[in-house]
Amino acid sequence: MEEVYKIIDVSKIYNNDVHALDKINLTINKGEIVVVLGPSGSGKSTLLNVLSGIDNPSSGKVYFEGNQIDNLGLNDLTLYRRNNIGFIFQSYNLVSNLTVEENVLLGAYLSENPLKIKDVISIVGLQDQIEKYPYQLSGGQMQRVAIARALIKNPKVLFCDEPTGALDEKTGKRILEFLQSVNKKYNTTIIIVTHNPSIALMANTVIKMNSSHIESITHNKKVISAQDLRWS
Ligand SMILES: Nc1ncnc2c1ncn2[C@@H]1O[C@H](COP(=O)(O)OP(=O)(O)OP(=O)(O)O)[C@@H](O)[C@H]1O
Ligand SMILES: [Mg+2]
Repeated sequence: MEEVYKIIDVSKIYNNDVHALDKINLTINKGEIVVVLGPSGSGKSTLLNVLSGIDNPSSGKVYFEGNQIDNLGLNDLTLYRRNNIGFIFQSYNLVSNLTVEENVLLGAYLSENPLKIKDVISIVGLQDQIEKYPYQLSGGQMQRVAIARALIKNPKVLFCDEPTGALDEKTGKRILEFLQSVNKKYNTTIIIVTHNPSIALMANTVIKMNSSHIESITHNKKVISAQDLRWS
């Protein structure tokens, strides 16, 4: 199996005393769906930030497709992110003076192989909202804009930090079904952080984090289709 990420002894320390990650080791294979579970503050978002090049580790090594990325300069890091990564942020990060449609199109900008805006908008069910601005949307609608913006780029790796946190069961499952179909169609590696343990059933690999450590890594023999998940 082809390795997308390998991280060795990665630690992240904030302000000299907060150990957000403590000597983490991990390998992620191409085309996997990985679900990361763990209590609040256990280091899940920090792990995503380090893998996606949003943040540097304090120590340790991070490899993407065999190339070391923890030591890249700002320009190379930007290129790495631009060419490979889609990110759905826990806090949406929408641009407040752009409409829904413009926010989503931002994601397609500079992508070599973007999906069609119409398809992506209809998958997240925002056809009737495209002219609106973020302040006119509900939390769940903002989250769906953030998801559409990451998806339209059609990246090699898609990071999703609590992608269904603000969504009801029906909408949440529809988004997860779509993530699963993107994974099948494009062999996209998808890494999902969630507090919802039922989502772990649709993953190939489940990582449980606790107090800045990886507590366990499990590989599911059987993967459940998103539409058959029982919500909790
Ligand atoms: N930029 C930062 N500066 C200082 N401390 C930070 C920073 N980002 C995260 N931390 C701290 O690092 C630890 C891990 O945070 P992280 O955001 O990775 O947790 P999490 O598992 O994603 O939690 P949640 O489920 O609440 O999103 C926490 O103690 C947090 O306060
Ligand atoms: Mg988090």
